[in-house]
Amino acid sequence: MNRTTRYSGWLHALVLTFFVTLSFSSIAQDGEKLFRANCASCHKLDKKVVGPALAGVQDRWESEEALIAWIQNSQQYLADHPEDSYAADLFAEYNNSIMPAMPISNEEVKAILGYIANPPAPPEPKDPVPGPEVASGKDYTMFWLLGFLVIFLVIIKVLMDVKTSVKRLLYDIKGEEVYRAAGEEVDFDLTGKEKLALWMNNNKVAVMLLMVVVLVGVLNVAWEGLIGVGVYDGYAPTQPIKFSHQIHAGDNGINCVYCHSSAEKGKHSGIPSVNVCMNCHKGINEGSRWGTEEISKIYEAAGFNPETGSYDKPGKPIKWVRIHNLPDHVYFNHSQHVVVGEIECQTCHGEVETFDYPMHQHAELTMGWCINCHRETEVKMGGNDYYDKIHAELVEKYKDQGLEKFTVSQIGGLECGKCHY
Ligand code: HEC
Ligand code: HEC
Ligand code: HEC
Ligand code: HEC
Ligand code: HEC
Ligand code: HEC
Repeated sequence: MNRTTRYSGWLHALVLTFFVTLSFSSIAQDGEKLFRANCASCHKLDKKVVGPALAGVQDRWESEEALIAWIQNSQQYLADHPEDSYAADLFAEYNNSIMPAMPISNEEVKAILGYIANPPAPPEPKDPVPGPEVASGKDYTMFWLLGFLVIFLVIIKVLMDVKTSVKRLLYDIKGEEVYRAAGEEVDFDLTGKEKLALWMNNNKVAVMLLMVVVLVGVLNVAWEGLIGVGVYDGYAPTQPIKFSHQIHAGDNGINCVYCHSSAEKGKHSGIPSVNVCMNCHKGINEGSRWGTEEISKIYEAAGFNPETGSYDKPGKPIKWVRIHNLPDHVYFNHSQHVVVGEIECQTCHGEVETFDYPMHQHAELTMGWCINCHRETEVKMGGNDYYDKIHAELVEKYKDQGLEKFTVSQIGGLECGKCHY
């Protein structure tokens, strides 16, 4: 080892130790966490990365003691145990790259070794979940393919039209001779437009390619713009009162529709009025998290005086900041989805009962998101009067395919007019 490599190795180790020490400021408890935080940058269990693969490492070392000492400070270990040729060889094998000293306790190393010896099995691949499932909204492949096919047909049609009209044009203007000359050397004095038409006619392939490129470009821009319009996935504004869904729908198990009662009745779910809050908060005047601070804001809004226990003050509505907001040209109806479609709130809004303050938007609410679900979700038709007739008609329509079940798209859920005013 020459001077410079020793120096840089030393510096390297110092820097690494610094960062490793930093990362130890928040010591994780279990082996897997410790491993991820401190070792995973250089080690994998099943693959050599910067350092060797660690699966089965216990068997390669004489004793656990030696192994622990090595992990805590490999350079110290090498200095203290010149007789351990395995360690020396390993160090040489890895080009003397230094595994930094780790300020971790014996227990923590044991936890890591426990994890290395028995890593948790990877999660079983889930069976495809039947029924509604929120699609990622990212898979537009079929859309694209269909689009391309249509564009292609249009282009072919246009080119055929060009050909016919070029013929007709030249024939009309210059007489039959020119028509015969078309495609050969042309030295008649044609206008620019006619030359262009003639050139297009003679260079069909180039024209077709050009049109495809231009169209793809335009469509791409349009599509990006379209699917990206107003995407507020994860939007979580601050609210006038620190209302936590976790405390209410989670810890206290209050049903969503107790507060959002109109979700089952109409288009909008609505936000509960302050009266609904008062049903409980007349009695509950103190929270475990924010004490009376937040709940007193409810009283203010309700015009309730907790001292006298009566509504003797003027109230004022709570100005909740709206989170979900579809553009005005989109029609979305809650009861159709929740009652008729029997879709759980969580399918679209996420596990709201685990959302703490501030509430956030879960789904992206893009057109692609709506459409993907309509394509994949089967309509629940059984025992639903509204659908008995439609169902019979659909079974008839798809008779040759023997279909009994239908997705929303098959009942017309992809038609523009269903969602757009
Ligand atoms: C900066 C990179 C780096 C980090 C971080 C690191 N190691 Fe290493 N480790 C190595 C290298 C390189 C070797 C090969 C021996 C040598 O050259 O020092 C090694 C070797 C080992 C060995 C001996 C492997 C064998 O095949 O016998 C064990 C065990 C080990 N590391 C465990 C750990 C554990 C546990 C952690 C986390 C607490 C850790 N290492 C963090 C780089 C690293
Ligand atoms: C105790 C009453 C209450 C319960 C129960 C409740 N919510 Fe809410 N919810 C509210 C209030 C108040 C707001 C407005 C404040 C906010 O956004 O944090 C709200 C906001 C929301 C919003 C965002 C509205 C927007 O502005 O776009 C969604 C979505 C929502 N709730 C879904 C649910 C779901 C799903 C459940 C059941 C798991 C549920 N809520 C249970 C009171 C409640
Ligand atoms: C069905 C009963 C019920 C309704 C309706 C209800 N709450 Fe609560 N609320 C509770 C319970 C239970 C707690 C927990 C009190 C505790 O922390 O011990 C609570 C706690 C709170 C807290 C205090 C959290 C803390 O830890 O400091 C706030 C703020 C709050 N609710 C706001 C609202 C608002 C706003 C509404 C109306 C939209 C509402 N609640 C409707 C039952 C309800
Ligand atoms: C199929 C998906 C879907 C389901 C299921 C669904 N929602 Fe919504 N929710 C939406 C969309 C989309 C919006 C935005 C509507 C808008 O901006 O007009 C929304 C908006 C809301 C709002 C904001 C107020 C409003 O009506 O615009 C609340 C509150 C809400 N949902 C609660 C619920 C609750 C509670 C349930 C279950 C009973 C539920 N949602 C089921 C998609 C869904
Ligand atoms: C989680 C899946 C899911 C999502 C997401 C979803 N829908 Fe639906 N939608 C359904 C189902 C299921 C039905 C059929 C309900 C029924 O049985 O009538 C439906 C029906 C409809 C219908 C009536 C269609 C018809 O032919 O009568 C409209 C309109 C509609 N949805 C609009 C929307 C809009 C707009 C969005 C996005 C903001 C959306 N949906 C998102 C599942 C979904
Ligand atoms: C299942 C419901 C649904 C269907 C069917 C649907 N759309 Fe949409 N569309 C939406 C939603 C939701 C948005 C709003 C997306 C956003 O804000 O990101 C939207 C947005 C748009 C926009 C963007 C307008 C703007 O805000 O600038 C255009 C254009 C559009 N749709 C055209 C169409 C056309 C054309 C069809 C028929 C092929 C169609 N949509 C079918 C739900 C639908």
